Amino acid sequence: MCGIVGYVGKKDCTKVLLDSLKKLEYRGYDSAGVAVFENGEIKISKSKGRLAVLEQKLQKEGWINGTCGIGHTRWATHGEPSDINSHPHGSARVTIVHNGIIENYQKIKAFLIKKGYTFESETDTETVAKLLDYYYEGDPMAAIQKVLGEIEGSYALGMMFKDFPNRVYAVRKDSPLIVGVGEDEAFIASDVPAIIKYTRNYYLIDQDEIVVLDDGKAGIYDIHGMPVDKELMTADWDMEAAEKGGYPHFMLKEINDQPTAIKTTITPRINEGMPDLSECGMTLEKLSGYQNIFVVACGTAMHAGLVGKYVIEQLARVPVTVDVASEFRYRNPILSDKDLVIVVSQSGETADTLEALRLSKNVGADTLAIVNVKGSSIAREADMVLYTHAGPEISVASTKAYIVQIAVFYLIAFELAFAKGAISEEECRRLTGVLQSVPDLINVVLQQAEQCKYIASKLINAGNLLYIGRGLDYALSMEGSLKLKEISYIHSESYAAGELKHGTISLVTEGMPVIAVATQRELFDKTVSNVKEVKARGASVIFVTHSYKTIESDVAEYKIGLPTIDDILMPLPAVVPLQLIAYYTAVLKGNDVDKPRNLAKSVTVE
Ligand code: F6R
Repeated sequence: MCGIVGYVGKKDCTKVLLDSLKKLEYRGYDSAGVAVFENGEIKISKSKGRLAVLEQKLQKEGWINGTCGIGHTRWATHGEPSDINSHPHGSARVTIVHNGIIENYQKIKAFLIKKGYTFESETDTETVAKLLDYYYEGDPMAAIQKVLGEIEGSYALGMMFKDFPNRVYAVRKDSPLIVGVGEDEAFIASDVPAIIKYTRNYYLIDQDEIVVLDDGKAGIYDIHGMPVDKELMTADWDMEAAEKGGYPHFMLKEINDQPTAIKTTITPRINEGMPDLSECGMTLEKLSGYQNIFVVACGTAMHAGLVGKYVIEQLARVPVTVDVASEFRYRNPILSDKDLVIVVSQSGETADTLEALRLSKNVGADTLAIVNVKGSSIAREADMVLYTHAGPEISVASTKAYIVQIAVFYLIAFELAFAKGAISEEECRRLTGVLQSVPDLINVVLQQAEQCKYIASKLINAGNLLYIGRGLDYALSMEGSLKLKEISYIHSESYAAGELKHGTISLVTEGMPVIAVATQRELFDKTVSNVKEVKARGASVIFVTHSYKTIESDVAEYKIGLPTIDDILMPLPAVVPLQLIAYYTAVLKGNDVDKPRNLAKSVTVE
């Protein structure tokens, strides 16, 4: 979703803003803009389209020369993507950029119209800019405080006041904001990759804290204007982690990063061969006391939760309910203080997941967050947090973040099963050892990239596709199908293989591709029977299973073979070909793989 940046220092501000915004492109956007002080005047340039369009416009119409400014990438919510609706917005005295949604903007707008204000755009943001102007009487802090008392919704705002040509103000509520500090320069940004080229030192801004960048320094104040002492954070990864590293797309790099990401995530949580989650305060005693577990998340993170459910229920025999966060928060869930709610989120900022977490805390359930982005809202608000160490995930389609979320679920399941006495210490140790061997197996699967590309070449003209599987393979099919849809724009559905003949099989026609995942050996023959049913109706089948399994030509046209480990751990190697097939299908269709249309990396609105 929208990205905001700001800079006060000595460098060419327009260039710094554009560089920083490029690092936020992954969030998804449809227009961009900058506002920079030039000789005491705020100059604005903005346009619909990619940052390259804005850069060309600046080169053609005149670069804005200055050392203080704000910038924005917009993911349209109120009003279509257009030059007019692009940020920054403002008045003669105030200019702002905004990430989030102002829920009561219509009421404020009506009030301001009565006061004589006129509006150019359809955005909620312009209302905030004009409200700031209305309250501004020479003291920006006082105007900001008044506005914060009136606006409802979520926001990270970057603001400039014409009377203060070397200053950027910022504030946040429920939308992310960090402040970077370098030598004689300071930054605001929605996320760390935006500033990492310039500095690794940053502060995490809390709800309703007000930031003032002035003369290359950053001051942070509470809502009453009192200075706040903050812990200075240091990014523990460098530029390289946020670069493509020779790969044509971030997505392919991130798929290939997966063995390392799993290793980095699980190694610190294994102590003398046993899982150990005590770093977050999760003891064996605590774990064994939970009656029910709820997993709440969105999209791919929810799919990781589905794998978690199968694994925890099979090994630990504790009931697990998986919910889509946007449903969970409005279905009045039955929770008690004997329950554990696990929220899963790569970004740690997903609005629905954050609200589901807050709701769970309010009713007294224990909450555990599995989160990738350090210091994100979900990580900060949960009772316990287990960070996944995937490093920055830039591609909108999540791959390495998903696989490490699953890896953490395995550690939880093993430890919980042991704590409950459902498996012996010996079995727990053995399973943990097998988990440690997975990164090497994934390296073997990655060598099948060419075959996945070949299969992708058979899919590019398909209008529809089915993914089928049973048990854990059904959970994987959902993820495979989502991955393909979001980046290739081919419609696909995932179905429990045994459910097909209850309706969906009527969609199968001559040549329709069906991707069947069959890694659960107990269910293998049953899945083969379901595959034969679609084959008999003309489907063209791609079969994903263990390498050693022989697949007859009356079952499938293509087979992807996987190395064999315990069935319960098979989702880890098995998801890789599904990711690669989705990736190559999108590449062969000429799509913008890392930034698929209409999607945002960090979904900070509900
Ligand atoms: C799909 C994808 C999304 C996210 C979802 C939740 O590839 O990335 O479905 O998984 O938007 O995002 P996080 O994990 O940041 O809460």
